Amino acid sequence: NRQTRLKPAGARTVDEITGSRRLRRMRKADWSRRLVQENHLTVDDLIWPIFVIDGKNVREPIPAMPGVFRLSVDLAVKEAERAAKLGIPAIATFPNVDMSLRDQTGSHILDPQNIINRTTSAIKAAVPEIGVITDAALDPFTSHGHDGILRDGIIVNDETVEQVTAAAVLQAAAGADIIAPSDMMDGRIGAIRDALDANGFQDVAIMSYATKFASAFYGPYREAIGTQGLLKGDKKTYYLDHANSDEAIREAEQDLAEGADMLMVKPGLPYLDIIRRLKDEFQVPTFAYQVSGEYSMIKAASANGWIDGEKAMLESLLAFKRAGCDGILTYFAPEVAQMLKG
Ligand code: PBG
Repeated sequence: NRQTRLKPAGARTVDEITGSRRLRRMRKADWSRRLVQENHLTVDDLIWPIFVIDGKNVREPIPAMPGVFRLSVDLAVKEAERAAKLGIPAIATFPNVDMSLRDQTGSHILDPQNIINRTTSAIKAAVPEIGVITDAALDPFTSHGHDGILRDGIIVNDETVEQVTAAAVLQAAAGADIIAPSDMMDGRIGAIRDALDANGFQDVAIMSYATKFASAFYGPYREAIGTQGLLKGDKKTYYLDHANSDEAIREAEQDLAEGADMLMVKPGLPYLDIIRRLKDEFQVPTFAYQVSGEYSMIKAASANGWIDGEKAMLESLLAFKRAGCDGILTYFAPEVAQMLKG
């Protein structure tokens, strides 16, 4: 009969094959799945990146990032209040700087009253209980969209470090709790640590974008901060080659030796292997940046009805926890915090 044709004589039964181990046993019900769940996502894992822009009562949609806005400082403060109420531990701020203020060297980053510093002091004054993370990087301030001082077609390392270091001290003076240098210049962590300490900011921490890869996933962010049309060439002479993993270990090792308190991997989802390697190697607080392109892909596929956006969001965030992350920078932060609360 049909049965014997499908099961030739001598074939083993499933019990013989598995030795009676039935790995599906604990997956049989919701209660047993919950009981053996290894990783959890909580609101404490979330850092919310927000975009700020000059003006009052401005809430400008970013077409490539549905649900994300450029906010004037007054509204950024309101959002910080909302985030604190939701229990989100920290906010990371990114500026869209007026084009008239951008130049070859990104000098406006050294204005104590620039939009980033004004946002920081306004948030810390109104919502002192939320952590503020500032991106010490030149790209929103340069007329060419690079993260460094550009001379004769070269991003000049040491002068950029000087500029970024001075900017970090101003950001700390404005009230930043964590400085996150994202420019990938050599020596920046040590220089920033020295300068913070020399200026009485021993308690200001450094989250290093230690492993930041040259990536196509930053596209929507560049629209958000207005560098999309400006950027000439690519960032391959300073960001990591996305083919490399051992090099990421060397970068992280160097940044920790220079005084980084925390590491970040960026982008996130395509780099879970890097997160796991860093966590296994160093056992230090490790974060992922689920970048703009990752956010927009989920939003776009969801808007087309191709995936369940909410489930994909939660699955991607939990994947970061499984990979070893202590937290995630994600544009989904308020949405997911609301969901976890409800
Ligand atoms: C650069 C910077 C980038 C992002 C934040 N700061 C990358 C870049 O433009 O090259 C990307 C964040 C995102 O895509 O969400 N200092």
